[in-house]
Amino acid sequence: MKTVQLESFKPGQLWLDDRGEHISAHGGGILQYKETYYWYGEDNSSGYLNNVGVSCYSSSDLYNWKYEGVALKQEDMPEELQGKNNGRVERPKVIFNSKTKKFVMWMHAERSGYAFSSAGVAISDNPTGPFEFLFYDRPVLFEQEEGFDEHTNEKELGNSFRDMHIFVDDVDSNGDGVNDAYVFYSSEGNWTMYIVRLNAEYTWIDLPETDKRVRPQCTKEDLGKVWSRQFIRKMREAPTPFKYKDKYYVITSACTGWKPNQAEYAVADTPLGDYIVLGDPCVGDVDKTTFQSQSTFVLPINEESGKFIYIGDRWTPDELGKSPYVWLPLEIDENGNIEIKWQDEWKLEDLKV
Ligand code: GAL
Repeated sequence: MKTVQLESFKPGQLWLDDRGEHISAHGGGILQYKETYYWYGEDNSSGYLNNVGVSCYSSSDLYNWKYEGVALKQEDMPEELQGKNNGRVERPKVIFNSKTKKFVMWMHAERSGYAFSSAGVAISDNPTGPFEFLFYDRPVLFEQEEGFDEHTNEKELGNSFRDMHIFVDDVDSNGDGVNDAYVFYSSEGNWTMYIVRLNAEYTWIDLPETDKRVRPQCTKEDLGKVWSRQFIRKMREAPTPFKYKDKYYVITSACTGWKPNQAEYAVADTPLGDYIVLGDPCVGDVDKTTFQSQSTFVLPINEESGKFIYIGDRWTPDELGKSPYVWLPLEIDENGNIEIKWQDEWKLEDLKV
């Protein structure tokens, strides 16, 4: 089928790929590799519980997307995470490791009921996959004062791992030849957000292996060095970090399931924080629902002048695969304040001023 060439973004509407089907890459992220953009996300095209895995699309102009297939198949995951056992991948993100030359995918590995709540890690030699699933685990084991989340068995397994994002910095602080990367995720039963630095391969956290454990977990001793707790007891979700002029930003949502709510953004001088909340990034958003969306990614277009694209999902749980996307211009002014404004239709040129 010959599809129409798209020349603009139309937030909140169906968005057809090169096959003429609505793009299914929810809770997604964009990787720019060489001249191509790759969009990875939840393939919800078969519904919530028949998760197909992580879909991948490619584009050179950000408007027209070619379906590249399922980059990580749910059926290639461990038995307990397969579709037939109600396994689900949420909010997958892919980054490129310049040292190992591997594409590394992190995801929220889940099963219906949201008790599994673990990080999943997969790698590939190619941006479009196939990705090989390595393992699932939880990065932190921390005896927080306010009690453990029993639903996710935090005390024994480590603190829960839900809505997540991977951020790659443009600095190599420890001189290991690769830029630092961090995982941001909702933990402690969504009550508190964790940020953890990754190792040089980006395949787990930045702590050495021990005799006891091949995959070490952060504890209280590592707090403030390798990881941090942010937005403590504030119940923030959908972490969406990015950087602008040496400041670290993160947009988060409140915690209301598929229903949209008011976003907040926060800023810090270092990736681990502490983050200071500056308020709602949306301007003119009368019903205070982040223009009926939940954040998932911020894509730099012209970093120098503070021009980015805000990317969110407008979840439609009755037909999850048809959930539209909300891509909007995100601008940062000279005082470091973010503004996201609604547009029915817009083009990249509108940003590149
Ligand atoms: C949201 C979360 C989504 C999904 C949903 C399920 O709060 O951000 O990624 O997990 O809950 O209800």
